[in-house]
Amino acid sequence: MNQDDALYPCSFVIFGATGHLAATKLLPALYRLELAKRLPDVTNFVAFARRDWKDADWMAHMEQALRQKLGAQFTPECFARFAARFSYVRGDLQDVDAYRRLLEELGKPKTGVCSNIVFYLAVKPEDFSAIVNNLAQVGLNRPRGLHRVVVEKPFGEDIESAQKLNQLLHQHFDERQIYRIDHYLAKESVQNLLVFRFANLMIEPLWNRNFIDHVQITVAEQAGIETRADYYDKSGALRDMLQNHMMQLLTLVAMEPPAALEADTLRDEKVKVLRSVRPFAAEEIHASVVRAQYGPGMVEGQPVPGYLGEAGVPASSTTETFVAAKFFIDNWRWRGVPFYLRTGKRLKKQTSMIALRFRDPPQQLFRETRLGSMTPNWILLSLQPNESMHLEIHAKQPGLGMQTHVIQMNAGYRQDNEPQPDAYEALLSDIIRDDATNFIRFDEVEWAWRVVDPMLKYWERTPDSIHSYPAGTWGPARADQLFTTPDRAWRNDV
Ligand code: BG6
Repeated sequence: MNQDDALYPCSFVIFGATGHLAATKLLPALYRLELAKRLPDVTNFVAFARRDWKDADWMAHMEQALRQKLGAQFTPECFARFAARFSYVRGDLQDVDAYRRLLEELGKPKTGVCSNIVFYLAVKPEDFSAIVNNLAQVGLNRPRGLHRVVVEKPFGEDIESAQKLNQLLHQHFDERQIYRIDHYLAKESVQNLLVFRFANLMIEPLWNRNFIDHVQITVAEQAGIETRADYYDKSGALRDMLQNHMMQLLTLVAMEPPAALEADTLRDEKVKVLRSVRPFAAEEIHASVVRAQYGPGMVEGQPVPGYLGEAGVPASSTTETFVAAKFFIDNWRWRGVPFYLRTGKRLKKQTSMIALRFRDPPQQLFRETRLGSMTPNWILLSLQPNESMHLEIHAKQPGLGMQTHVIQMNAGYRQDNEPQPDAYEALLSDIIRDDATNFIRFDEVEWAWRVVDPMLKYWERTPDSIHSYPAGTWGPARADQLFTTPDRAWRNDV
């Protein structure tokens, strides 16, 4: 046990323990923390679900899920240690008596050592209110400050519902007890962005409107919606990716250095960025935002159906699977620099990156050379699947005469043998240790909604304003027209 582990006694209750999120993300990540001996001794888990099971049934279910997900990382010894931390409480989320049983379970010697309790809501948003109200009914929201409630996105489906959800949570929990998850914040490559910007003196002086021509943030997925039609068709790319993950990336690229690496100082800076994003007037949305849906196409040489042909998607659906938008941030650092954001499913390949294009140099000294000096410098940060940093600069081509060419200075961010923790491992470890730095405060959610809400409202009024693109391509041609000068275009590769 680490020296300070005793500071973090924790009972961790998983609502929706038999669900998909628990099986694919939570349990594997918690198990890996056990494997790496990163779980304090005084941590124990309560699985809460509806199935009429005994502890032994739960253990068998969990063992099967973990074996399937973890492959060689699964060992009977580690599983025995991990399973010994668990107990199972059967209950319906709506039934207050089930929460009394939970209270009783949490008082037992195994769990009773814990002075703080985490409630992880791995359930549909419709179930949040029942859980939160019932926890309060049996007094499990107290003492305020010690217990924490963890919620997954979506945090509402528009600004009004997000505010409502927040009111509900705040009725029974203080803001510092609420952990809102955006797993992008815990990605190693995203965290590296802060280090890249604020630990390197040579970068920061260039990171502003004096030097940067524009910024591009792309999160492209090759996969389609898989088996998630039920959720995705109500959500679409704007709610699923842009309002949260992409907006968070935008804030990390654009924010000022925080006073300290603490939860609130960091969040204060992110909120300042969101507040400075220029709001769209309804008549601008058509020109600055593009939405589209994938049609049938080819991915890696194989034919794939269009969105409307995916199981569970209504034939008349106008849900977008692609969105691209041009934002401006009206502050001293960024005024006049466009930020182009783009995300979509069934694109040509899976790649996420942040690209900053520099302005042209003031003097075109090498204008007469073959490649000319018109090609600008770029900083390219690849977030996934490869985590790497690239600087595109001009160099003299070896040989007689003054010819220039563009070369890349490349830095891999991770060596092959370096560990690659999953974002959920980092997040769960932070929750157990009560560190909210990588979680979202409500004002971030609200300001991000303020940015995207006008788009939703506009699309509701104009359902036909949706473009189409063949699966396996880079999206609709219309997205290229967000760039208004011929020397600007999407970067698809680093
Ligand atoms: C989730 C979205 O939040 O993020 C998914 O709901 C998306 O639709 C996923 O596929 C992308 O996450 P990652 O870590 O695979 O880039």
